[in-house]
Amino acid sequence: MSQKHLYDFLQVVREAANEAGALLMHSLGKAAMREKKPNDWVTEADVASQEIIFAAIRNRFPDHHLLGEESGADTQEWRDGYCWIVDPLDGTKNFIHGLPSFSISIGLFHNGQPLIGLVFDPMLRETFWSIRGEGAWRNEELIKPSECRTLGKALLVHSFPSSVVEDTPELIRFNNVVKNASTRRLGSAALNLCYVAAGRLDGYWASTLSLWDIAAGILIAAEAGVSISNLDGSPFDVSQLSFCATSTAELGRELLPLLQV
Ligand code: IPD
Ligand code: CA
Ligand code: CA
Repeated sequence: MSQKHLYDFLQVVREAANEAGALLMHSLGKAAMREKKPNDWVTEADVASQEIIFAAIRNRFPDHHLLGEESGADTQEWRDGYCWIVDPLDGTKNFIHGLPSFSISIGLFHNGQPLIGLVFDPMLRETFWSIRGEGAWRNEELIKPSECRTLGKALLVHSFPSSVVEDTPELIRFNNVVKNASTRRLGSAALNLCYVAAGRLDGYWASTLSLWDIAAGILIAAEAGVSISNLDGSPFDVSQLSFCATSTAELGRELLPLLQV
């Protein structure tokens, strides 16, 4: 596959994300919702956004696999050939509350490896995107992570699962880190990765995500030069769905010991 073809692929989903983003903005504050499981909500806008994106991809790439949060498709297909992995609304809780920090995340994997990533924030009209080997971009501007090397100066972000129970590893990790660094929870895993890629945040750790949360952002972060490992410090493996991503390897070496539970 030539780079030219990949730019054409990117353009297809960039247009689809713009259309889906307009739908999200139009639905803000008025989309019907239901609880999928305790404290995990889906709105009719999540579903409509996925329909727009899937239709655009099916139309241009009928032989590619599709994996979307709202369709519950076979989760193994992403390892096989071309597979588009879509979170049509990442940050549904924020969206429901009209709180900025929600996004559309679209990743293309080839044989289990990320090839294209696009994360669109329709409120700020920011498109973070990357093609493997082509760097990471915010709109038309090349992005790179901060040079932060120490926890004392870092601003970190993390994710909790939708329900948190006592003494879970996520709470223990948070408890360890919050005493040593400034932390935030923003509500969109995809944007968290992009913000580390763009130097707005210095690090992000998470352990309970789904592939659609990170399929696009992980490539954008890696292409920007973010240091990414599994939570135990071993080389990053996307199928583990947990990671430590830091602006520099030095910061990773300070953060990782606090994440061991
Ligand atoms: C959620 C968000 C949130 C993270 C959750 C995800 P959703 O995705 O990314 O930041 O903490 O684990 O499930 O449900 O809004 O698409
Ligand atoms: Ca999500
Ligand atoms: Ca979602």
